[in-house]
Amino acid sequence: MSDSIESRLKEDRRFQPSEEFSKQARVASHAEYTSMYRKSLDEPEEFWREQTFDLVFRTPWKTFAEWDLPRAKFFVGATLNLTESCLDRHLSTDGRTKAAIVWEGEPGDVRTLTYWELHREVLRLAATLADLGVQAGDRVAIYMGMVPETAVAMLACARLGATHSVIFGGFSAEALRDRINDCGAKILLTQDGAWRRGNVVPLKKMADEALASTPTIEKAIVLRRIGPEKCPAPMKEGRDLWWDDALARRPSEAALALAKNPPAFDAEHPLFILYTSGSTGKPKGVMHTTAGYLAGAHVTTKYVFDIRPGDLYWCTADVGWVTGHSYFVYGPLSCGASVMMYEGAPNAPDWSRFWSIIEKHGVTILYTAPTAIRAFIRAGDDWPAKHDLSSLRLLGSVGEPINPEAWTWYHRVIGGGRCPIVDTWWQTETGSIMLTTLPGACYSKPGSTGLPSFGVDIAVVKDRGDECQPNEGGKLVIRRPWPSMARTLWADDERYLKTYWDVMPNVYFTGDGARRDEDGYFWVVGRIDDVLNVAGHRIGTAEIESALVSHPAVAEAAAVGKPDELKGQALVVFVTLKAGHDAKDLKAKLAEHIDKEIGKFARPDAIRFTDSLPKTRSGKIMRRLLKEVASGNAETKGDTSTLEDFSVLAKLRADDD
Ligand code: PRX
Repeated sequence: MSDSIESRLKEDRRFQPSEEFSKQARVASHAEYTSMYRKSLDEPEEFWREQTFDLVFRTPWKTFAEWDLPRAKFFVGATLNLTESCLDRHLSTDGRTKAAIVWEGEPGDVRTLTYWELHREVLRLAATLADLGVQAGDRVAIYMGMVPETAVAMLACARLGATHSVIFGGFSAEALRDRINDCGAKILLTQDGAWRRGNVVPLKKMADEALASTPTIEKAIVLRRIGPEKCPAPMKEGRDLWWDDALARRPSEAALALAKNPPAFDAEHPLFILYTSGSTGKPKGVMHTTAGYLAGAHVTTKYVFDIRPGDLYWCTADVGWVTGHSYFVYGPLSCGASVMMYEGAPNAPDWSRFWSIIEKHGVTILYTAPTAIRAFIRAGDDWPAKHDLSSLRLLGSVGEPINPEAWTWYHRVIGGGRCPIVDTWWQTETGSIMLTTLPGACYSKPGSTGLPSFGVDIAVVKDRGDECQPNEGGKLVIRRPWPSMARTLWADDERYLKTYWDVMPNVYFTGDGARRDEDGYFWVVGRIDDVLNVAGHRIGTAEIESALVSHPAVAEAAAVGKPDELKGQALVVFVTLKAGHDAKDLKAKLAEHIDKEIGKFARPDAIRFTDSLPKTRSGKIMRRLLKEVASGNAETKGDTSTLEDFSVLAKLRADDD
């Protein structure tokens, strides 16, 4: 069977879902998708009313949308407590006994929380937070690993209307401190440590370093995941509380009542802030609000992952990134799905870990990233072959372009030739999936991220805004506001306007380059701004550069990406040193410096020392040329007429060993 699919793919590069899959899917044909898509643009009010019937609103909305670009509001006039859609509403159906989260720790421990239990945990933590003085509008930082309590923490904040900011556990103490200070968080939720490839990531230790200079933090609540033997976590008197101890205290009646019967908030109430990289050194606090975000995450989860009763859905992304927010927590829980959660690394203890989890728990939908798929390909087919993956029925990809080879392997080896693949394009700022193929309705083309999601008016345009011809490359823009779009950057609205809305009049600029083919399918090439995508992590070149120049030996630094088979892009930095400093021994020191300033995941793949960097006559570093040098291109493409000193480039090339 898979052979004939392979040859069909070679013939026309299309993969048509099987009739059997389509018959059971929510949207069964291309015509049905098209008519729903048209309705979402032409009669949005009606479309969203139909599609959000199962979400819980306390006050219905008066108008679906009001906009005066770049400002937009959705579900205007509605009030809701979002957690009622994710938790309470399922308790009256099968949620009392249905698994909400099936969790496997890296050492192999397993826990299942039913919707009933998850609801209870959220209420307990919400009441505790309320007693600690957390109120609607306060910010709460969450610096945790992949344990169910991280989802509990997010939902407990949402229950109280506190705005959470999850900071990925791979970030360093300094990165954590900057993010806490930027959003002015009052409480930090963390854990002693997290398991990663058999080692302990000492989260509390790093949190302690960060909290030495975070004036707004009043309390830290610490979950004990590892224990004192392997991960000592000294507690600071008056500030730190163990999670279990805090929850063991009986909450006040008022706090209990608040958690049980939570207030409803305005549709535009800030739900979370999530920091991401941009083209300047300072991370951007992308802010999402409540109803529009929930609606976007809910509707896309329902249709793109085609959630059905009996599914066990697994999104492998860390909850510290937007994929974890929308497609591990809010989207799936609002659909009442059972979600798989795994704590550790994909190769712990070996490369069969994912496949053993799928077999053991009966995962039906897998949503992961191309960089992981390429690592699995490299590790070899023997690992998946050891496991029965026949429970899988749908596969997803996110985070970077998936190369057709990886697509084909994923389809054949993991999907057994029978599972459709949904390649989903979106961003932290878009909140939910913007481009994909609905699995039972549309064929996919390996390497293309497909067609627009409902309500998404997206296009590829030239610099001045005219739409490109089919297959002509241009900028990817969204021409109409959509419910789950970011509303601002926390405490930096000016930057929000400048980054997304000032590039072209009245359209949202994604920062990506793309083309749309003759069938209307989008092909995203990648970032065209100063942002890199290294192994699915979004890294700003300016962020790396400012971290490097904060080292006493560094005079100047330039960070660029070069194509990499495994990571998609690899990070190469060019560094000039201050007088009196020797490059000897500095490579390791600079790598450690990046670990400290940002986190290990941002470590450069190569550090190259040079006497000078190629610059324009006005003193701007010509990153384009460095990119070519990093990629080993002998010839210089494009215009070099503004380059001040040609010998710099020649020397960099000569050094290229
Ligand atoms: O360049 C695009 C790439 O990831 C960027 C967004 O990164 P982030 O905000 O961290 O969110 C990642 C997960 C949604 C985009 O601007 N990207 C994301 N998904 C795809 C992609 N590039 C190509 N194909 C995709 N499916």
